[in-house]
Formats: sequence, C-alpha cells, structure tokens
Amino acid sequence: MTTLLKAQPVVDQKIADLTKRCQSLIQKGKRPLMKVVLVGNNPASLTYIRNKKKMCETIGAEFELDQLDSSISKTDFLAHVEKLNQNPKVTGIIIQLPVSNELKSLRISQLVTPEKDIDGFHGHNTQWLYEGSIQTNHLLPCTPKGIVELLDYYQIPLKGKHAVVIGRSLIVGKPLSMLLSNRNATVTLAHSKTENLADLTKIADIIISAVGKAELITAKHINPAKKTVVVDVGMNTLHDKLVGDVKFDEVSPLVAAISPVPGGVGPMTVISLIENLILASEKQS
Ligand code: GUN
Repeated sequence: MTTLLKAQPVVDQKIADLTKRCQSLIQKGKRPLMKVVLVGNNPASLTYIRNKKKMCETIGAEFELDQLDSSISKTDFLAHVEKLNQNPKVTGIIIQLPVSNELKSLRISQLVTPEKDIDGFHGHNTQWLYEGSIQTNHLLPCTPKGIVELLDYYQIPLKGKHAVVIGRSLIVGKPLSMLLSNRNATVTLAHSKTENLADLTKIADIIISAVGKAELITAKHINPAKKTVVVDVGMNTLHDKLVGDVKFDEVSPLVAAISPVPGGVGPMTVISLIENLILASEKQS
C-alpha cells in the first residue's frame, strides 16, 4: 500500500498552535500583519495570494495586498518596499514572484528587511542553513521547511538516506538541499543539465521534484524494489488541470509514499509562511 503524504493533518495541528500564538500577540497589542506586494496580475500569483489571505484569516492575523502596476519603475518599487520595511505595523512582507521584467535586475531576495522576511530569502536568514542549523526558530525558506515537516510528520527518516532533489532554484532546490544535508541526508542536487536523471532517481531513497514540468517523473525513474518516497513540488497546468511534476497514476503504485498535487507540498508552504509570520511578529514584539 502506498502512503499518501497529505498536508491536511499537519496543517490542522499547526493551525491550533498558531491561532493561540496569534491571540497572545494581539493581547500584547502586536497584531501580526502580512503584507504581500504583487506587481501586475499574474493569475497563478493571485491564486497563491488568495490561499495566504485565507490562512491569515483562519488564525486571526491581518492580511493586506499591495497590487502595483506592472509598469512601476525600479525607483518607485524600491521606495514602496522601503516604506513597508519602516512601517512598524507591518510584521511580515512578501514580494510575490515573478515580478515584471523591468524589476528582474533588482536583487529582489535582499530587499525585504531580514526581520520581516517571512519568505526566508534574505542572506541573513539563509545564512543559518549554510551554518548547518536545524533549529526551527529562524525564518527558513517556506517550501523546504514545509517539505521536511511533512516528511517528519509521516515519520520518514532522513538520516543517512539518499535524497535526490531535482531543481536548483533559490526558492526550493538550493535551500532544500542544505536543509536535508543538515538533517544528515546524503543529497544529490540534480537540474536541467543533469545527464541520465533516471540512473540517479533509481538509487534514491527520497526523490523531490521541484522543476515545474508536468509528467517529468514517470515509471522509468523508479526502482520498485527501493520503496522510494516521492515528494512532488510541481504546480503545473495540464489539460486545464493542476498537476505536479510526477505522473501520479503511473508512479504511485511503484513507491512507498508520495505527496499528492494538490493537497501535499502546496498547503505545507502556506502554513510555513504563516508560521514565519508569527515567529517574525513574536521577535518584533
Ligand atoms: N512565487 C511562487 N512561489 C513563491 C514563494 O514561495 N514566495 C514568493 N515570494 N513568490 C513566490
């Protein structure tokens, strides 16, 4: 029987704790406020933002969206972010990616002040990963943090296991490879130029695909004798349906456990973001 790594039980557990911590901050006069900055109106971004807003409301935190025109200049954009950095009412800031082409040359990940960087992208926050920290009281990048918490909840061991991470993005692949290594996994970081990917995935204990390519991982990537765990980070549209990077129907009978899309890594990312919001607000209060 294949175990489905669903996020819902983990999310339910976390909501209870985060609601309590949020109430306690409100009583101290420091209501957590998540500010999302969106440039333009990318439909996928608007969907992600809706999920963040809903989760803020669930735990009693405030949420505000600043939707900026796609033609905004670098100077005006930088001034906008700096005003949020300086505003004591705003306790967590996200610059929703992607931004417009005009703004792409800015080092977006370094613009939000580290204390309010609930994405965990700023060098001051990712530094903890380089240093080998496994502590949970830092603003760690949300998707990697959510993936490790999902694996922990389902008691999937990491120590000494071979994890093949596919994709080397700033948001997922790079920080995840470090976080897994800090948890004593042996990590292979594969990417678009990797040759013979299937040779690597067939010897993996854990495969994590964060590429954004529908049906990239198929039966040919799995060794059924290995009892592999598969984590699917993909959010792709195929025939008007949300699908991951893994051809689910083909792969799921061949593995020990697999995270579904939707209902797996997506909600774990959102709850990690809310956890970072509460953590940032607590540190500021
Ligand atoms: N766009 C897609 N995923 C993310 C994320 O985790 N953070 C931000 N800021 N933008 C994104």
